[in-house]
Amino acid sequence: SGKIILDCDPGHDDAIAIILAYGSAEIDLLAITTVAGNQTLDKVTNNARAVSTVIGMTDTPIAAGSEKPLVQEIEVAGEIHGESGLDGPKLPKPTVPLSDVNAVDLIIETVMNNPSGTISLVATGSLTNVALAARKEPKIIKRVKEVVIMGGGYNTGNWSAVAEFNIITDPEAAHIVFNEDWKVTMVGLDLTHQALATQDVVTNIKSINTSTSNFIVELLEFFTDMYKQNQGFEAPPVHDPCTVAYLIDPSVVTTLSVPVDIELTGKLTRGMTVADFRYPIPKENNTFVATKLNHTKFWDLIYDALSNIG
Ligand code: BDR
Ligand code: CA
Repeated sequence: SGKIILDCDPGHDDAIAIILAYGSAEIDLLAITTVAGNQTLDKVTNNARAVSTVIGMTDTPIAAGSEKPLVQEIEVAGEIHGESGLDGPKLPKPTVPLSDVNAVDLIIETVMNNPSGTISLVATGSLTNVALAARKEPKIIKRVKEVVIMGGGYNTGNWSAVAEFNIITDPEAAHIVFNEDWKVTMVGLDLTHQALATQDVVTNIKSINTSTSNFIVELLEFFTDMYKQNQGFEAPPVHDPCTVAYLIDPSVVTTLSVPVDIELTGKLTRGMTVADFRYPIPKENNTFVATKLNHTKFWDLIYDALSNIG
């Protein structure tokens, strides 16, 4: 089964990524690490612990990481995720503990203490923690199986005309991660805008009728309203769990080998994930972009995870 570390900023769709990873028989969720993004570090860390409490996930360590991007000021996404970062459901007071090590150290320890090539790093927030881990202990680069990122997009942006939120909130960190010598798979907006939580999806989740599925329904109701009001979407794109779905079953997500680099200096394009589709693809290339989602299979994985959690 696939071992993963999930670095996230919950976040409605991050919460669903946690639930998918926890509920899937194919995934061994070794750690959850948090990074400032959708809200401040304290809020998203509290949210990660609240989600774990709701779903009864008591054995997975949770560690807090960076409260600021590497260079620029912090920018949160209150207009999508609300004041708490996880508005909608009433959140329980977390009963699962917070680790006393920093997220960056937990990532390093976990990768170093497991056999080389067995752990995938999944990042569904800004790339600050992952970049710092790569710089602090470069030995992890060769040991990580794959870095799977929700972020960027080769066709469109959502936080500027050309940049996506997780990349534009810490472009320097993204630059480090995309340029290291490990396999990076970019699950960007091109893919995640196909993962819409349409009304029939919400109805299916409702009919599962467990505390976890009801929690997701409440998350999706808030998320749907925000995406309608502020982004003009009829149904919200559930970005982050697409990364986990790809690791559970690679046939859910089509990928292409394409060089990708991060724009740092463009006046209009800072934070853009520049993908070079020109022929031929260089032999040494280790960046991949996700292009096509199997919508039915994707939601089936979520329904399966929910019935496994019970
Ligand atoms: C990404 O930004 C965040 O608001 C979401 O959680 C997701 O990771 C989408 O651009
Ligand atoms: Ca996120």
